[in-house]
Amino acid sequence: MVVVNTRFLQACRREAVDATPVWFMRQAGRYMAEYRALRERYTMLELCRTPDLAVEVTLQPIRRIEVDAAILFSDLLLPLEPLGVPFDFVKGEGPQIERPIRTESDIDALRRFEPREALAHVLEAIQLVKRELDGKVPLIGFAGAPFTLASYAIEGGHSNHFAETKALMYGNPAAWHRLCDRLATMVGDYLVAQVEAGVDAVQVFDSWIGALNARDYREFVLPHTQKIFAMVAGRVPTIHFGTGTATILAELAEAGGDVIGADWRIPIDEAWARIGDTRGIQGNLDPTLLLGPTERLFAGAAEVLDRVDGRPGHIFNLGHGILPSTPVERVQALAKYVHQYSARR
Ligand code: CP3
Repeated sequence: MVVVNTRFLQACRREAVDATPVWFMRQAGRYMAEYRALRERYTMLELCRTPDLAVEVTLQPIRRIEVDAAILFSDLLLPLEPLGVPFDFVKGEGPQIERPIRTESDIDALRRFEPREALAHVLEAIQLVKRELDGKVPLIGFAGAPFTLASYAIEGGHSNHFAETKALMYGNPAAWHRLCDRLATMVGDYLVAQVEAGVDAVQVFDSWIGALNARDYREFVLPHTQKIFAMVAGRVPTIHFGTGTATILAELAEAGGDVIGADWRIPIDEAWARIGDTRGIQGNLDPTLLLGPTERLFAGAAEVLDRVDGRPGHIFNLGHGILPSTPVERVQALAKYVHQYSARR
């Protein structure tokens, strides 16, 4: 199937584009009335596990917002269940893991699984989305990186200090490396299966990696994330995303990714200088700007585009996901603005 709108894929390859491609992390979700309507009837996990529903949610933003890529509706935590770490999403609290993993024997008890069987519903959703999109825009698949996945499995949910995670990492490095190696192999297999099912690009989310400094990143994480990118290499463009990463962007780039995601805590041109000009960059508007006045939102977007200054290889995105209280009209206006402003430059 030919992808008609190729801006996103061209930018991944650092080729010239007619206008800067845009997509938004969490472009499907609670800020949209049609998503909330589905959530009245189904739980988050039901949406993720029922291919027709995952397809519908994936397409909701495509119908309403001028985005240049779709991202599969799913969740980073889905592979935890077949690993033997069941969880649920608890209203108002986020993910809750039933029995967090803490000991070496917990790690050794993790199951190996075949993503084409255990996560067949995700792969089916990919095939269905590709058919529905019919080349309109490319489809992004994704998975979590070892640190972020391990942090949920170990902490049991969201964490501010990653105390248990770091206690294992510093206290029993051998067990930590065994855990991350298992996660990396699983994620690599899962991403390859997503590519075979039809995704046009993949994003690896290491959302909470900003909790580490460069030295610890290099020792405890880099080899594992590198393994994931090596497993997917040469198939489709890859994006490597984290938040709070201003001081470790060079290390993130070293671990892999054709495009590196940056958040709003660092100006995008400085981020790009740290990443190096052999990679593209994705970002990096503060998502809370969508909650304020339009003039400030547009000024923020214009500043990002001015700092990029037309260099090929920029994908416009937020520095993190759209917040649930965001007015949908602002998101629509932002995507249009980025296209118009960048086309005119
Ligand atoms: O970006 C997209 O549009 C695709 C969908 C997507 C979701 N989760 C849907 C979701 C993606 C790419 C993810 C990945 C994910 N999941 C990440 C990495 C991205 C990031 O935000 O850093 C993380 C950390 C998770 C774990 C997770 N899932 C948390 C912490 C939560 C609760 C927080 C929240 O926003 O409620 C979720 C639930 C979740 N994942 C929702 C959605 C739309 C909200 C579910 C709902 O209540 O309806």
